[in-house]
Amino acid sequence: MLLAVLVLLLPAVSEACGDPPRFKTMMLQGEPKPNYRPGECVQYECRLGFKPKLPALPRSAVCQDNNTWSSLQDACVGKSCPNLGDPANGQVNFVNGSVLFGSQAHVSCNPGFYLIGAKVIYCEISGDNVNWSDNLPICEIILCATPGNITNGRFTQYKEVYQYSEVVIYRCDPSHGPDEYSLIGETTLICVDHNRWSSDPPECKVVKCDYPIVENGAIVSGFRGKYYYNMQVVFQCHDGFHLHGSSTIVCGANGTWEPKLPKCSAKEAIATTTASATSNASGFIKSCLYLSISFKFLVMF
Ligand SMILES: *[C@@H]1O[C@H](CO)[C@@H](O)[C@H](O)[C@H]1NC(C)=O
Ligand SMILES: *[C@@H]1O[C@H](CO)[C@@H](O)[C@H](O)[C@H]1NC(C)=O
Ligand SMILES: *[C@@H]1O[C@H](CO)[C@@H](O)[C@H](O)[C@H]1NC(C)=O
Ligand SMILES: *[C@@H]1O[C@H](CO)[C@@H](O)[C@H](O)[C@H]1NC(C)=O
Ligand SMILES: *[C@@H]1O[C@H](CO)[C@@H](O)[C@H](O)[C@H]1NC(C)=O
Ligand SMILES: *[C@@H]1O[C@H](CO)[C@@H](O)[C@H](O)[C@H]1NC(C)=O
Repeated sequence: MLLAVLVLLLPAVSEACGDPPRFKTMMLQGEPKPNYRPGECVQYECRLGFKPKLPALPRSAVCQDNNTWSSLQDACVGKSCPNLGDPANGQVNFVNGSVLFGSQAHVSCNPGFYLIGAKVIYCEISGDNVNWSDNLPICEIILCATPGNITNGRFTQYKEVYQYSEVVIYRCDPSHGPDEYSLIGETTLICVDHNRWSSDPPECKVVKCDYPIVENGAIVSGFRGKYYYNMQVVFQCHDGFHLHGSSTIVCGANGTWEPKLPKCSAKEAIATTTASATSNASGFIKSCLYLSISFKFLVMF
């Protein structure tokens, strides 16, 4: 039994140190040997991108009599990239809090300026030293070119060049025809980035929806002779009829009602009887109002 334990321990207690310790900032000088005898020494040198710490620390370890390596710690430190000043009209943010090898610099521009170049630069190996991966980017002033002309409309403040956050306002021309133009899209465009407006220019065109007719119902609000873009109509069903769909509809950009017209359908037989039985003055007045509106409508067309 004792013999078996001794046999098992023998290779471990052979007259040699194991592999020399490894470090993040430094590496073994020369080729590693398969084994090291007590008294043998290994030398380390700084890895690429690192330089000796100051004041200097030991960079060698010795194989001791008990077959362990003498203690050693990282003796190198990352090299520094050149200190960058802020670019004109922008800032550099050293996200790792340093300019040492492996760190990053994030560059941003002040409002009204846009970045040309690399937004993030890295302190990396360059030859036998370290340097930033790119030149410091530059912050250029944001300007917008004239936004598009549109047919049947124009915008205020026609210029060749606009400043950042400057605004143009579109409006439609008078049509000189039976129907006026509607402005579809955004009236106001803002210069938000280099040659980028907040949206595309709007469109000016005639957008007309069919006169909305709901059987057994009437328009209670938004009554007009013609219905153009964005005009809204509210319906109510006659007494004894129930509304299905949306009571409010809007004339959409493509000349259709959105959502589609509602429907008025007769309430159940019993409900209808009750309704007519309790028919009262206010119900009568409403019916009259509807008749007069319908009459007006007939006269108009
Ligand atoms: C080996 O020897 C060194 C120096 O004599 C000592 O500091 C260390 O603790 C020893 N290690 C072991 C594992 O006994
Ligand atoms: C530097 O910071 C960035 C972002 O926080 C991180 O991803 C990166 O690992 C850091 N690099 C070093 C060397 O600490
Ligand atoms: C570091 O890089 C910049 C540009 O990326 C270059 O102008 C400069 O000469 C470089 N410095 C060294 C020491 O190589
Ligand atoms: C746009 O309209 C303006 C005047 O309203 C005119 O000066 C300009 O030449 C037009 N641009 C284009 C590209 O047609
Ligand atoms: C009009 O617009 C609606 C919704 O925006 C759409 O469902 C419909 O297909 C369009 N009709 C035409 C003719 O483009
Ligand atoms: C009168 O008629 C209207 C509509 O038909 C109804 O909403 C209302 O509740 C009625 N009032 C009475 C007191 O019956």
